[in-house]
Order: sequence, then C-alpha cells, then structure tokens
Amino acid sequence: MTDNFTTTQTGTPVASDEFSLTSGANGTTALHDRYLVEKLASFNRERVPERNPHAKGGGAFGEFEVTEDVSQYTRAAVFQPGAKAETLIRFSSVAGEQGSPDTWRDVRGFSLRFYTTEGNLDIVGNNTPTFFIRDGIKFPDFIHSQKRLGASGLRDADMQWDFWTLSPESAHQVTYLMGDRGLSNSWRELNGYGSHTYQWVNADGERFWVKYHFMSQQGVVRMDAAEAERIAGADADYYRRDLYNAIAEGNFPKWDVYVQVMPYEEAKNYRFNPFDLTKTWSKKDYPRIKVGTFTLNRNPQNFFAEIEQAAFSPGNQVPGTGISPDKMLMARVFSYPDAQRHRIGTNYNQLPVNQPHAAEVRNYMHEGAMQFLFNPADARVYAPNSYGGPAADAERGIEATWENDGELVRSAYTLHAEDDDFGQAGTLYRDVFNDEEKARFIDTLVGQYGGLTVDRIKERFFQYWTNVDAGLGATLRERVGA
Ligand code: HEM
Repeated sequence: MTDNFTTTQTGTPVASDEFSLTSGANGTTALHDRYLVEKLASFNRERVPERNPHAKGGGAFGEFEVTEDVSQYTRAAVFQPGAKAETLIRFSSVAGEQGSPDTWRDVRGFSLRFYTTEGNLDIVGNNTPTFFIRDGIKFPDFIHSQKRLGASGLRDADMQWDFWTLSPESAHQVTYLMGDRGLSNSWRELNGYGSHTYQWVNADGERFWVKYHFMSQQGVVRMDAAEAERIAGADADYYRRDLYNAIAEGNFPKWDVYVQVMPYEEAKNYRFNPFDLTKTWSKKDYPRIKVGTFTLNRNPQNFFAEIEQAAFSPGNQVPGTGISPDKMLMARVFSYPDAQRHRIGTNYNQLPVNQPHAAEVRNYMHEGAMQFLFNPADARVYAPNSYGGPAADAERGIEATWENDGELVRSAYTLHAEDDDFGQAGTLYRDVFNDEEKARFIDTLVGQYGGLTVDRIKERFFQYWTNVDAGLGATLRERVGA
C-alpha cells in the first residue's frame, strides 16, 4: 500500500499505470477499462487550438510599481503614485506556429496584464510602435499572406510581398520589420509599445490621448541574421529558454513604463492622424513621460495553464483608461474574446490566470461549458433585483468616450496635414537608421527579393521601396542587378 497512489479523474484509486485490462494476458482489451479510456480521451484533448496569430510565445509574472505622479492624466488606481500591481507578460512571434523557431525574423508580441484593484488591464502590443494596416477588416487577409499556401503548406515570399506592396500603408511597419527590430537578441532586450492610441481620464473627467512605451532596462539588442538562422536550427526555443532561465537564476528583467500624452482637443488638428496605427507621434511634439517600472520575477508553475491559456484582450480596460476611435483597436476589442471563447472555451475568464487577482467579479452571467464559479445559492441572477444583488454604478464605471456623429460610411480615415503612406517610413530609414543599420536593412531586403518569383511582384517591390526613399529604390535595383 502507498499513500501517494494514482486515481481516476474522480478520485478512485486505480489498479495499474502500466497494464490495460485484457481478456487473459494476450487477449482483447476491455472497453470498460475506465481508466484506460479516460487517460486516452484526456490525452487526445491535451492541446487547445493554437492562437491565430501569435501562436509561439512564452511568459512570466512580475510586479509593477508606479514611481512618478501621473494622476493629472488618469484616475486609474493602478497608475496612482506608489501603486503596485501583479503583472503577467507574454512575448510571442506573429506568423509562426507553436513549434516554430523563435529566431525567425518577425515582429514580437508584447502582451502585458496588470491585475489591478479595478479589474484586469491588458495592453496587448508589439515591439514596434506601428502596424501593417489601419483597418481591422484587412487583418485576416494580412495574416493569411504571412501564413501558408494552400497546396504546398509552405510559407511564401511572393504572397507576403504581394500583400505588402498592394497595401502601401504597411511601409512604415515593414521598414521596422526588415530592420534590426525584426531580430532581437532575446525577449528581455526589446522594448514594448501599446502601439495604438488609448485614452486616459483623470479624476475631474478630463480626457487625454496616450501611447504606452515599455523601455527595456536591459537595452535593445539585435541579433545578427546569420546567427539567427543558425539558432533557428540549433535551438527553436531560444527566446523561451532565455527568459525562463534568466528568471530562474534571479536575473529579473525590468522595463520602464512611459506614456506620450496628447491633450484631447489636439487630436483634431495634429499633423498626423493620431488614431492611424501606421503612424507614430513625434517625441518632439509629445515627449515620453515616465510612469513606473515593472519587473518579471516569477516563472509560471505550469506553462499550459498560465501562459497557453492566458487570454489577453485590448478591451480589458479599467476606469481611467480606455480605447480610442482607432479602427484597428475597435475591431480588436471584438476579436480577442471571440477567439478565446473558441480557443479555450466559454468560461475562459474563470481560469486562475484570467480571473482578476485584485478585484472581484460580480454580475449575472452564468453557466455554459466548464463553469466552476457561481453566485451564492440564494442569489437572484438578474438585474434589477430587490434581493440586494449587485447593481451598476455609473460613478465607478468611468468609460472612455469621444464625440461621434456623421453618416455611416465605408471610408479611409480623413487625412491630416502630413498624412501619407510613405513619409514616416522614409524618415525612419533616412534619419533614424545609422549607416550600419541601413546596410543591414538593405542586405535583408536583397535577401527577401531573392525569394520572389513573380515579375509583377518584383516590380512592385522596387516601386514600394522607391516610394519610401528614391535612393533606396535605386540601390536595391543595382544590388540585385535588375
Ligand atoms: C484588427 C486587427 C487585429 C486582429 C483582428 C487581431 C486578432 C488577434 C487574435 C484573434 C489573436 C489571438 C488571441 C488569442 O487566441 O488569445 C491575436 C493575438 C495577438 N495580437 Fe492581434 N490582432 C489584431 C491586431 C494586432 C495589433 C495591432 C497588435 C499589436 C499592436 C496585435 C498584437 C497581438 C499580440 C501580442 C497577440 C498575442 C496575445 C497573447 O500573448 O496571448 N494584434 N490577435
């Protein structure tokens, strides 16, 4: 007899971990071997569908601390002077599947959750301040172009560049991706960005537009392209291993949290449309303001339960923070919870990693697959009720708002004075990249061109980069002998 015995899922001791129930030592297997059936059925369901996109990633828990006073901009409890909050982060790559090599060139996801006293606040961003498109209706097309061909199941350069060169708004983000940001040395050594414009609301109800910046105290370190290719073969989990080991060894990575703040009224006439995700706000116009610092100091106990089942959503906002009229962001508020109901299940927010850790859930939503939290036995589960159940409080539930009128249309954003598709991409190439960065960028583009097989896409490739910078276009033609 042992005290540490295995059981069925309902706690009954089992007779063997090794032998199925058979009719004689060499005979047929009994269908009523309940443990065998249960064990195989459980195994068959071990994987949930992978995230589409951002399937490959890793993450950790930590602590955020406000070190400055930004209370003039937001009333959110988590950003008040001295506030602390437990955090969860998940880093990821966009296009590859679960088992794909970490060091393929890609944008890196940077999903940050604050477990605040007013509910969970998620900022689900990337290591770039911009994105490839500016309307959510194009997102499935964009991701399809980065994934795999129908017949061969292969990724395909023609398909990627076909989409990008037919979507000129992608130029700024593609310039980031083909530059050093596309290959980081580790997840610890990259900056995160909320990318979108969000709203903050202060205690007096005054509204501000903000962009989040998470600056790595480890610095931003690139990886050489040849080294990345070698590691992709030698250790597909290179970034995941690096983060896990660093935290296990007590080498806790830290990021400083900053915001750019734009007074509400200035959005109307800013030289770039501040809600266009393909654009950044100049730091000269809106300098970074420090908020605090977060440290990652705790690895998951269980990768699947706490990282794979983590369900981040840009819609998880708290009183004093909110979204903006960015068409991408509004589409994302629908898309993430919908994906998670499918990927994880109806009650995914009841899982320990997704529950609020510093606030309570009180509402009348109930039942559905896998419910395990429920209202007290005598609760009436409707509102309004006269049995003392919870009721909404407009004074607490402060929401981000903006004026909204006009005809319902399907239209591009109204252009602001300096809006175009290629201007900021050109500035990034000419004025931000130094000579070595430019040289590596051109090498990368020459390599990308090498993957193209369709003449019309090759021609658009040159035109795209000529639009970013005429000299760059000419250099590329010369380098590939076109
Ligand atoms: C309208 C455009 C977009 C749509 C429809 C969309 C949709 C999705 C979906 C369905 C997932 C999987 C969620 C899950 O299964 O848990 C996902 C993951 C992710 N997306 Fe997006 N996305 C969009 C734009 C963006 C943008 C602009 C960013 C960054 C600024 C971004 C960053 C991420 C990240 C980091 C993840 C991984 C989340 C995690 O770590 O669990 N996405 N996206």
